[in-house]
Amino acid sequence: MPKRYRDIVGDGGSNVAGQVAAQTARLHARLAGVQYTVAVMSGKGGVGKSTVTTNLAAFFAMQGWRVGVVDADINGPSLAKMFGVRGHQLVLDPNGVMPAVGPLGIRIISMDLFLADDKAPVVWSGPQAETFVWRGTMEMHTLREFLSDVQWGELDLLLLDLPPGSDRVATIRDLLPHLHGTVVVTIPSAVSQFVVTKSITLARDLLHTPIIGLVENMTAYVCPTCEDVHPLFGPTSTAEMPLGVPLLGRIPFDPRMAAAGDAGTPYMLEHHASAAGQALFQMGERVRAFLTTVHQDTARSTIP
Ligand SMILES: Nc1ncnc2c1ncn2[C@@H]1O[C@H](COP(=O)(O)OP(=O)(O)OP(=O)(O)O)[C@@H](O)[C@H]1O
Ligand SMILES: [Mg+2]
Repeated sequence: MPKRYRDIVGDGGSNVAGQVAAQTARLHARLAGVQYTVAVMSGKGGVGKSTVTTNLAAFFAMQGWRVGVVDADINGPSLAKMFGVRGHQLVLDPNGVMPAVGPLGIRIISMDLFLADDKAPVVWSGPQAETFVWRGTMEMHTLREFLSDVQWGELDLLLLDLPPGSDRVATIRDLLPHLHGTVVVTIPSAVSQFVVTKSITLARDLLHTPIIGLVENMTAYVCPTCEDVHPLFGPTSTAEMPLGVPLLGRIPFDPRMAAAGDAGTPYMLEHHASAAGQALFQMGERVRAFLTTVHQDTARSTIP
């Protein structure tokens, strides 16, 4: 009969606190080789967080930066697919797990790489009545392991693709020794702006996480054959950006971007001259300017 938490006096002799402290120390040692850490978030689902993460990673890798990506969406992991590394066999050695390596040498870790088959959801075992209650804790442990037990090596940038909602920002902020900034993604509908404004308030004002800026995705439609751009929503004027957050870019809807995600090749790599490609490039430039100016004290001379 497994012990339940209320049956345990102290920690039941398992030294849980010691194990967590040791793993936190490993995490700090592992991330000592990482220059910048940036999270991509949104209070809203399906607005393009994973697409923005994929293309930000591609932008920086194209500039010669060494980039790693953590798929922090444990229940709906999509980055292995978007980087074309699904089915990659993870290699474990005494130093930890080697991340999968995608286009331009981008290093990726995702729950998807640990799941046995396509349809398998993440299921935590435990007393049924408590599994739901513990889900958030289990997810936090998984994220801690992604950060501490993966052999990231030296990185110029580690990106974290967060699941929808704002709660994970607190987890990430608590786990990481330093979070250099967050990129917030929205679509320009009032419904999305309304929800995203709340997540900005939480991240910036309550959790004191620096916001690099806001990406407005799907602002217009790009005809993939003629490259004509048709507005979808009236874009929000820069003066109306939620809570005065800087605008990093307006990315039009381009059906080739959805196709690129499905094919496992970041859109930027093949369509850098298109309207969406240029908007993504500008977004990347603005994130780079933020990191290298606001955090220039921590910049390493090896960054191109
Ligand atoms: N600008 C765009 N043009 C065309 N397709 C896009 C664009 N942005 C995102 N998509 C597509 O929309 C879908 C949702 O995008 P994505 O998975 O990046 O959103 P998300 O915010 O990460 O979702 P979730 O909240 O589920 O994590 C994907 O199929 C993606 O390829
Ligand atoms: Mg996603």
